[in-house]
Amino acid sequence: MSATATLPQAASLEETRRFMHEILKGIVPDVEIETKVELAYAINKRKREMNAVILGHNYMEPALYHSVTDYVGDSLQLSSIAAKTDADIIVFCGVWFMGETAKVLNPAKTVLVPSMQAGCSLAEGISGEDIRQLKMRFPGAVVVTYVNTYAAAKAESDYCCTSGNADKVLGKLIEQGCKRILFLPDAYLAANTAVQMGIPFLDSESDDPAFAAVPDDQPLVIGWHAKCEVHELFTPEDVDNIRRQYPDAVILAHPECPPEVIAKVDVSGSTKTMVDYVRDVDAPQYALLTECAMGDNLAAEFPHRRMVRACTLRCKHMNYITLEETLAGLEKLQYKVELEPELIERARKPIERMIAIR
Ligand code: 13P
Ligand code: SF4
Repeated sequence: MSATATLPQAASLEETRRFMHEILKGIVPDVEIETKVELAYAINKRKREMNAVILGHNYMEPALYHSVTDYVGDSLQLSSIAAKTDADIIVFCGVWFMGETAKVLNPAKTVLVPSMQAGCSLAEGISGEDIRQLKMRFPGAVVVTYVNTYAAAKAESDYCCTSGNADKVLGKLIEQGCKRILFLPDAYLAANTAVQMGIPFLDSESDDPAFAAVPDDQPLVIGWHAKCEVHELFTPEDVDNIRRQYPDAVILAHPECPPEVIAKVDVSGSTKTMVDYVRDVDAPQYALLTECAMGDNLAAEFPHRRMVRACTLRCKHMNYITLEETLAGLEKLQYKVELEPELIERARKPIERMIAIR
């Protein structure tokens, strides 16, 4: 979970240059590395002076990911680091909802996200009011909300989950006897998790008579219509094409992909699951159906592993986080995540309930 980079905290400019060329060779062109060395050096210097910690999501571009982060990981891993850090300032190199989660878990800290534009189609796909309406339509249903949501949506929820523990959270609720579970807002994560666990799944907008056909004493997962604008674009044909061209590759996909894609791949899991798999499981080659910076980050971290280097889809939100914006964030103390204390209190409960289940 700690940064893959072992660049010493007080590395000189020359040491930074050597380190970046070494770890990024064959992944990032030398000319690009040269444009980023001084920025990385300046960020690390500022970070020490300000007692800041930089958390980098697995989707950060390789030069940033490998030069300035103190910790890297998926949204759940980074949230738990944010909850415990002693640093005065948390710079979240990820998207806005991740910064909000850090603030909710550690409200005394200054939390910065280096770009105001780093949104997320899932987080923007549901509001607190949407959830209040759903609760009225499905009285008594337990609300499980994906961590890719804003605090206002979390505040209306009973439990949070991530793509790494959705099955555990759902399993626990079933064990407790819950029969109606609103799993929001990602239609595909909800469907994929329900299918994997053999629980019927229906869209909340559906007028399918199947709704009435599921007896009240049988569990039912009810979904919403938001989707990840990146992962929804992968198709079953993409899987077929990769298999044809790289027959010995293990294909891994994020569960935000459509169910028809998940049905065809070898492994489905969070970005952490993918990192762990590539590190721990020997395979001739690995192909990742997810934001493509991740494949480059793993290729740099595990040079003995062969990654299918196909950069087809990028998350524009994650890509707003650059070294330039990160330096500006530290220099200008921007952009601060500010949440009302009452909202923090309400949003924290479902996250804590999720953590208690792990
Ligand atoms: P992870 O929690 O798997 O890192 O995913 C976050 C995300 O935004 C995926 O698109
Ligand atoms: Fe949101 Fe999708 Fe981007 Fe992840 S990849 S931050 S889910 S838009």
